[in-house]
Amino acid sequence: MSERLIPNCDPFALAKELAGMNLINGRLVPAASGKTFEVRSPATRQLVAEAAYGEAADVAEAVAAAKAAQRGWAKTPARERGKLIQECGQLLNQHKEELAQLVALETGKAIRTESRVEAGVLADAFLYYGGLGSELKGDSVPFSPDMMTITQPMPIGVIGAIIPWNVPMMLMAYKIAPALVAGNAVVVKSAEEAPFAVLRVCQIMNQVLPHGLFNMLSGYGPECGAPLVAHQDVGKITFTGSVDTGKIIYKTAAERLIPVTLELGGKSPMIVMNDADLDRAVAGAVSGVRFTRQGQSCTAASRIYVQDQLYDSFIAKMKDSVDAMVMGDPLDEATDIGTIVSQQQYDRVQSYIDIGKSEGGTAIECSQLPSQADFKDGLYVRPVIFTGLPEDSRLITEEIFGPVTVVQKFSDYEAAIAAANDSIYGLAATIWTTNLKTAMDATQRLEAGFVQVNQNLVVLPNLSYGGIKQSGMGKEASLEAMLNHYTHKKTIIINMT
Ligand code: NAI
Ligand code: MG
Repeated sequence: MSERLIPNCDPFALAKELAGMNLINGRLVPAASGKTFEVRSPATRQLVAEAAYGEAADVAEAVAAAKAAQRGWAKTPARERGKLIQECGQLLNQHKEELAQLVALETGKAIRTESRVEAGVLADAFLYYGGLGSELKGDSVPFSPDMMTITQPMPIGVIGAIIPWNVPMMLMAYKIAPALVAGNAVVVKSAEEAPFAVLRVCQIMNQVLPHGLFNMLSGYGPECGAPLVAHQDVGKITFTGSVDTGKIIYKTAAERLIPVTLELGGKSPMIVMNDADLDRAVAGAVSGVRFTRQGQSCTAASRIYVQDQLYDSFIAKMKDSVDAMVMGDPLDEATDIGTIVSQQQYDRVQSYIDIGKSEGGTAIECSQLPSQADFKDGLYVRPVIFTGLPEDSRLITEEIFGPVTVVQKFSDYEAAIAAANDSIYGLAATIWTTNLKTAMDATQRLEAGFVQVNQNLVVLPNLSYGGIKQSGMGKEASLEAMLNHYTHKKTIIINMT
């Protein structure tokens, strides 16, 4: 094991240390082509650093390193593997602050409300999965008294993980922690908007793990992500991102007949009944829309159905609550709301706001843009609560991935359930009611992979998480995810005669 890395809480300096590098076989190396691309702070538009422009040659090198390392790793007892993963979790906890600052710098997510929370969840995922090594159990199967028949979960081999920028460390952790404990090696392709925090995580973990087991590439989707999916030695792809990219990946995986886990978008409904506790429902909606993450969440409560008697007061209280939130420097402790991640996403969000206005909706804009000169070009979008939109509005049917929610009035519970389920997505859903019968009924009928009653926002490593319909396939987090998605079951028959 090499000298331990020392935490570095100057995020600019840290990004410069990692500039232009991938991490392959335990070493920071430039892309084979030597090419790089710029990563800019979405808050100040300053250059953070250049990132390595990974392509097929880098993918080939990383997959070869992973394949070689995986052989020895699979022979390491499962509990020993788990102990090393827990050690990674402890080490990541020691580096929590620098990781939080780095992800805040590159993504524009506020340090107190989002980035530090993410860094904590990251370490926790490794601590949780590290304890599950001895749960890689199989079954004994009745066959005949002379035939000992068992099943055994086996590692798949090399896992390719393609991750997005909204919660890059957390989403990566829920993929690679179970994959590694199960005896696989991984190659991660980071999102072009947020390559540095996850690269630092990889560097930290390579202090503990055998080299080659966890490799990190930065680069663009078609040039770096696609060759990873297509590589003959990659045995499985796990992906979080857009539906369109998910479909492209699934097609390539189908050609290769390899399994995929896809965590895609959402248009998650929230229903507020007349008998709900209004203050709790408003607080739940404000956190559920993820205004603190600028709405850049696949589970964002982007459609809110409020029953008639509460409708006006709900909107007034929600506006007051969001008005009290501070938009500002992502690295400032006082900031609640930071920036949109990139110009592309900013333009996309603005275009939806324009569509909503042109459809006759009322855009209630909340909070205030930061006034400091440093942030005048920052990608800030004021949170918007839309009312008065037609039922077929694109803001109600399409994922916006911005600080925008649509509030609609309903009278009849049945109509609210029907509207909530009328979506191509099925990731999450929430209902606020004090009536037990309504609550129980809704949990059974809401078409979503994750349903909550009278509360919002939980991320726990032991809760399986994933959507139905076009929100994806396969669950993440939990023991179930490790067993079902990062192992294959081998059947072994021993004739004892
Ligand atoms: P994206 O799906 O294009 O990108 C996600 C990841 O996939 C990135 O690492 C990207 O480089 C990679 N990728 C892109 N094209 C690829 C290809 N052909 N083969 C392999 N990998 C590829 O998402 P993007 O463009 O960042 O955001 C667009 C929309 O996607 C957002 O507005 C949002 O609606 C949705 N999204 C959903 C996320 C979620 O948490 N479910 C996360 C990020 C985006
Ligand atoms: Mg894209």
